[in-house]
Amino acid sequence: MELYIDSANLSEIQKTAEIGIISGVTTNPTLLAKEDPSLDVKELIKHIHATIGGHVSVEVISTDTKGMLQEAEDILKWFPEATIKIPMIPNGLAAVKELSRQDISTNVTLIFSPGQALAANNAGATYVSVFLGRLDDIGSDGIAVVRETCEIWDTQGLESMIIAASIRHPIHVLECAKAGADIATVPYKVLQQMMKHPLTDAGVRAFITDHENMMKSKGGV
Ligand code: G3P
Repeated sequence: MELYIDSANLSEIQKTAEIGIISGVTTNPTLLAKEDPSLDVKELIKHIHATIGGHVSVEVISTDTKGMLQEAEDILKWFPEATIKIPMIPNGLAAVKELSRQDISTNVTLIFSPGQALAANNAGATYVSVFLGRLDDIGSDGIAVVRETCEIWDTQGLESMIIAASIRHPIHVLECAKAGADIATVPYKVLQQMMKHPLTDAGVRAFITDHENMMKSKGGV
């Protein structure tokens, strides 16, 4: 399963890209709003794209099809490989249908049920983003929705790539991998948690201490 980082923070993206664990970045208006307001959004997105050199999803704000298509046209002028992120509403699916006709990559976002995922696939979405954390937040079972979506995809041989989104902790990532999601888009903090283990840290410390002691004893001979 591929990992993307769910962030618009350049420092987080740079640090994660450097260690080679991510192949893409997903942004949304909320993530962009958390960044320094003096930053120009277009320049920030272009910088993110230059940093990752892979998938970057950029979300539209409009809720009418024409507005979404106009925004997509503008974003594609920033860099032509952009994936246009579009909300799971009927006007959004009409925009996806048109962009798919033009061979433009789309990511349908705010999907909370397998039925919505199926509709987005049929409209021609390149990616479908299933939000699990927000389902858990309201007492539903987010992982169950990802599992059911993956099962339908396997049975039907559907084409859209499934992105598990709204990830809250490392167990979400593992459950999505087991379910067969193609990609998980993961916040920086959760990527850090995934990589850390106290036994690894203790082991590194012990190896260094043992090496230093060995060198001291050799020097002392
Ligand atoms: O990629 C979707 C993600 O940004 C939503 O996450 O944490 O706002 O539910 P969250």
